[in-house]
Amino acid sequence: MRVKVLVARGVFPEVLARLREHFDVEANETDEIWPKAELTRRLQGKAGAYTTGSESIDAELLDANPQLRAVCNMAVGFNNIDVDACTARGVVVTNTPDVLTETTADFGFALMMAAARRMAEAEHFLRAGRWTKWSYDMFTGSDVHGATLGILGMGRIGQAIARRGALGFGMRVIYHNRSRLDAALEAPLAARYVTQEDLLRESDHLVIVVPYSPAVHHAIGAADLALMKPTATLTNIARGGVVDDAALAQALRQRRIAAAGLDVFEGEPRVHPDLLTVPNVVLTPHIASATVATRRAMAELAADNLIAALGCGPRAGRPPTPVNPQVLAGR
Ligand code: DGY
Repeated sequence: MRVKVLVARGVFPEVLARLREHFDVEANETDEIWPKAELTRRLQGKAGAYTTGSESIDAELLDANPQLRAVCNMAVGFNNIDVDACTARGVVVTNTPDVLTETTADFGFALMMAAARRMAEAEHFLRAGRWTKWSYDMFTGSDVHGATLGILGMGRIGQAIARRGALGFGMRVIYHNRSRLDAALEAPLAARYVTQEDLLRESDHLVIVVPYSPAVHHAIGAADLALMKPTATLTNIARGGVVDDAALAQALRQRRIAAAGLDVFEGEPRVHPDLLTVPNVVLTPHIASATVATRRAMAELAADNLIAALGCGPRAGRPPTPVNPQVLAGR
């Protein structure tokens, strides 16, 4: 009998076809988000789950599916998965790092520039037919080149954004991270490690790329925003919940900071209603990794992981990017 897997969301047809070469696949053809009870039920009898950040994999779901051996997320982030619960039950978890680094950094930089140069506000103004004359102070924003770029979370994507800023735009780079980078990584960017408080105080443009965990929930709240320059921008491409969206909306409305660019939201796809009514924020629907090439690469890597994690293909037993490799060692 063939091994059964569940593909919990829509995916490229050729990726589905490849999975079908190895497995008996139940796919989510309509791409609707299944409520937890339905996801739990559909996982019955499945050895593997191909998931995205939208599916929550917790201890309760795992206990209802003791046959599950692999959860392969088509995302670099895996805060939707209780990795400790998976590890305790011998379930291997994988993600899709590296293949999206540059694309996501491009987007983060673009969002930061859009916020700094007020592109969304200006576009709405034009589309509304309100542009009647050129004016010396119309939509004046702040410079990106030569400014201080602050990065919260200096992992692969944070470093890729820092490279764009330092080498392409002559920006001074400061960062805060759980641990300081090696001098060899800091030196080419002249990147300076600072405390989170100094990062907030000194950044002209703050970009948040820190992976979500309960430890960084609301790492940026009202008191933190109050430390920022009134001319500063804040861009979040990490995860909703790192920033307190209600506090951010208030800071934007009161012009305690100049502008923001947000690709991720607390409780998305819902967006805090106050963010929808403040003008000085650019809002996008969690698309930082969304180029055709990168989404294909993520989908293929997640499939490679599932195939290998369930003992098939040329890398049988050795998925390329495990999050909890200790599970594999114990098999
Ligand atoms: C990721 O890969 O984590 C992106 O945020 C898409 O979910």
